[in-house]
Amino acid sequence: MKLALESVGHAFLGRPVFEKLDLSLVEGEVVALIGPSGCGKTTVLQIAAGLIDPLRGRVRRAYRRHAVVFQEPRLLPWMTARDNIAYGLCAIGASATARVEVAERRAREVGLHPEDLDKFPVELSGGMRQRVAVARALAVDPDVVFFDEPFTAVDVGLKRALQDLVIEAAAREHFSALFVTHDLAEAVRVAHRLVVLSGSVEGLAASRVIEGKPGERNDRIVFEMVETWSRDPAFHALFDGERERIR
Ligand SMILES: Nc1ncnc2c1ncn2[C@@H]1O[C@H](COP(=O)(O)OP(=O)(O)O)[C@@H](O)[C@H]1O
Ligand SMILES: [Mg+2]
Repeated sequence: MKLALESVGHAFLGRPVFEKLDLSLVEGEVVALIGPSGCGKTTVLQIAAGLIDPLRGRVRRAYRRHAVVFQEPRLLPWMTARDNIAYGLCAIGASATARVEVAERRAREVGLHPEDLDKFPVELSGGMRQRVAVARALAVDPDVVFFDEPFTAVDVGLKRALQDLVIEAAAREHFSALFVTHDLAEAVRVAHRLVVLSGSVEGLAASRVIEGKPGERNDRIVFEMVETWSRDPAFHALFDGERERIR
């Protein structure tokens, strides 16, 4: 077990978000956390990552290092892409040579070109900035990675390429991940297991193991799983929420 949330409850300004939530990640497991907008996904992720303390319950961590990829890239505007990727390496005591070597290797892995590395965030497209954010997370060799809807703002074609990067990195490096999304097809592509936060129950509304391995599910399989789960009562909250938002 790498991470476990046990009977966690949280509220903002006296309004409960969830009352009693249990969630765990085993080594090498990618868990997708889905739910409609506003149901508390970011709150769960921030509690899991230790960014906020839960009002109730406890969080157990059995790992050395984690990294977070947010919905916006959150790059430092005055640093080049290379220095942004290397940013977390200072804190773990890497030498200057090692920082450059790691940053360049991670940049290659996420599909950035060597000439992009001297650019500042303002000179990069939204998709490239998100690649930098993923490379920065991977640079510290995390045991656990938290993704908070990282590809929601990028366009559809690119989204797929970025999902593939995460799938490949997770398979290669065996980190555990909590991947928050409101996109069921994305969840089904990237994860080993799916958990649903509906916002109207105490904790999680459902947990499902996704058949097969991420990266080995073709488009037909993903489509069929999405179809099947859309009819599952445990997922109704998700789709009702989506309809509310579209209306
Ligand atoms: N810092 C905060 N202060 C007050 N309310 C908050 C704060 N953060 C989140 N909330 C509220 O908590 C609920 C869950 O938010 P969030 O975890 O961001 O949901 P999600 O990520 O699923 O969209 C929402 O109703 C939101 O408005
Ligand atoms: Mg959120």
